[in-house]
Amino acid sequence: MKGIILAGGHGTRLYPLTLAVSKQLLPVNDKPMIYYPLSALMLAGIREILIISTPTDLPQIARLLRDGSHLGLDITYAQQDEPKGLADAFIIGADHIGGDTVALALGDNIFHGNSFYDLLQESVADVDGCVLFGYPVSDPERYGVGETDENGVLVSIEEKPANPRSNRAIVGLYLYDNNVIDIAKNLRPSARGELEITDVNLTYLEQGKARLRDLGRGFAWMDAGTPDSILQASQYVQVLENRQGVRIACVEEIALRMGFIDAEACDRLGALLSTSSYGRYVRAVAAEFR
Ligand code: TTP
Repeated sequence: MKGIILAGGHGTRLYPLTLAVSKQLLPVNDKPMIYYPLSALMLAGIREILIISTPTDLPQIARLLRDGSHLGLDITYAQQDEPKGLADAFIIGADHIGGDTVALALGDNIFHGNSFYDLLQESVADVDGCVLFGYPVSDPERYGVGETDENGVLVSIEEKPANPRSNRAIVGLYLYDNNVIDIAKNLRPSARGELEITDVNLTYLEQGKARLRDLGRGFAWMDAGTPDSILQASQYVQVLENRQGVRIACVEEIALRMGFIDAEACDRLGALLSTSSYGRYVRAVAAEFR
């Protein structure tokens, strides 16, 4: 399976924070926001990752993540000249996807939960159609909302419904079979001129090939698109990290635990950052792993 992180957009809800800096490079506690969706793809075992962003933001993101080889990854980059919608990712990324299945992660979505690794491993194993993830929220009218039958098969998707049929928001991590490229290429732009991911998902729904898996109430999912939600996500990460002494979305640690790099390589990465507590943590993880 190939991975794509969509890390462009305007970030208007964060102005003036995002007038000069990419939203996905803003801090969520101790690390750049993009580490969180990158971690999700890595935990799914995905190593070939395309990052899509704006012409101005792409060089800065590339400065951070380079070609990914230090993390045992193969990271490439592509420009999206205008934010034409989430489904544009499959058109820009068609060559990257090739004949494979694909996971799309939104650059401002944060995932954390106990059984996330297991859920991802299970979900990527056999993608026939699409696999979406649902998360219970108190304000479903703000999101794309999915309703399922008792077998987890999606029966409806509604975009920002006034009267939601369920409280399960569809989160920014989507798994698709290879048909997604053709589906995206045949989409018509919506009234706001974008290629909507909901329209992709509705196509799979009509074919009876859309599944929704529950992230459950013990899980944390946040969309860090506003100043309040960035602060809340930072506080959540800070509380857990301080309390437990472990780090969430530490990409060096995940690379090590997934077997993408060895302990020596992990230690070298930590040494480069060792004046920060993040860097010292990376070194400690490497030492413990040896
Ligand atoms: P949004 O939060 O929907 O859009 P945005 O980032 O432009 O922010 P705002 O609404 O405040 O103006 O985007 C979700 C994620 O997808 C985010 O990480 C940016 C990314 N994105 C793209 O890369 N290209 C796009 O065309 C769109 C619509 C979003």
